[in-house]
Amino acid sequence: MVSLKGRSFLTLKDFTPEEITYLLDLAAELKEKKKKGIPVDDFRGKNVALIFEKTSTRTRCSFEVAAHDLGMGCTYLDPSGSQIGKKESIADTARVLGSMFEGIEYRGFEQSIVEELDKYANVPVWNGLTNEYHPTQMLADLLTIREHFGDLKGRKLTYMGDARYNMGNSLMIACAKMGMHFTACTNKEYFPDEALVKQCEEYASQTGATIRLTEDVEEGTKDVDVIYTDVWVSMGEPDEVWAKRIEKLSPYQVNKAVMENAGEGAVFMHCLPAYHDLKTKVGQEVYEKFGLSELEVTDEVFESEQSIVFAEAENRMHTIKAVMAATIQ
Ligand code: CP
Ligand code: NVA
Repeated sequence: MVSLKGRSFLTLKDFTPEEITYLLDLAAELKEKKKKGIPVDDFRGKNVALIFEKTSTRTRCSFEVAAHDLGMGCTYLDPSGSQIGKKESIADTARVLGSMFEGIEYRGFEQSIVEELDKYANVPVWNGLTNEYHPTQMLADLLTIREHFGDLKGRKLTYMGDARYNMGNSLMIACAKMGMHFTACTNKEYFPDEALVKQCEEYASQTGATIRLTEDVEEGTKDVDVIYTDVWVSMGEPDEVWAKRIEKLSPYQVNKAVMENAGEGAVFMHCLPAYHDLKTKVGQEVYEKFGLSELEVTDEVFESEQSIVFAEAENRMHTIKAVMAATIQ
């Protein structure tokens, strides 16, 4: 019997395939109950703290709605509204929050920060995105893939874009853990870190997964189930990196040709937010500077029948609810 009571959720590296499946099954159950209007609010009297040192729409709303659904109170701390890191160390913050809350979410910069919080908090700590990993996004993605295809094992996922950062790293780990075939299809400067590839190859040897790194779009996207991409420039990175990213990653834009090469049954996924049109401030700025009106994905693919990005976004809430329900004591 799997029990994750008291456990933190910092990266999928810390979880076995069975534990990940347990969280996916719990999320599916909680989703079904929510759809049927059956309340699951047995966490009344408990409270969670949400620390956001970077902005968010999906992750913040997912934690807040999930906490309310579970009957809990929740307190949101934004980068300017708390003392964290400026006037108070992470260790001191962790001990204060740990004495008032039953769980703490952290979104921010280095993974070492969320690890430090975990070390001192004495309550479960959940990673809501760091530079290195985005594990709650992985649960939503796995649930969405499982809902769409009916299974995970043996499915082929190709990630295009910056594969050295939180999304590329996390998808490679998630696929390796769940017996899926992962391809990073990008410029070799953006291949994932070698040590992490090695670690994932070890997971893969236990699960039947494979890891492939390729610069060849035709080969990397041929006959795969999922084409996945993310923004080319992540939160916290300086604007100066745009020029080089556009130069190196434009060949890896997800467009109609890529989806056709993947095949009729393939789906398009993206953690969101996405730059697929000129309806955003950053999208406009990039257009004015570089003349590109669509970046990592074309509007045509984003809005196509093959795109399952909004089902994926909804699943953030159900999976985050499962993480809190499974880990809070
Ligand atoms: N995918 C994701 O984490 O979205 P937010 O940045 O809006 O939370
Ligand atoms: N790589 C992106 C993911 C956003 C959910 C970022 O870190 O900004």
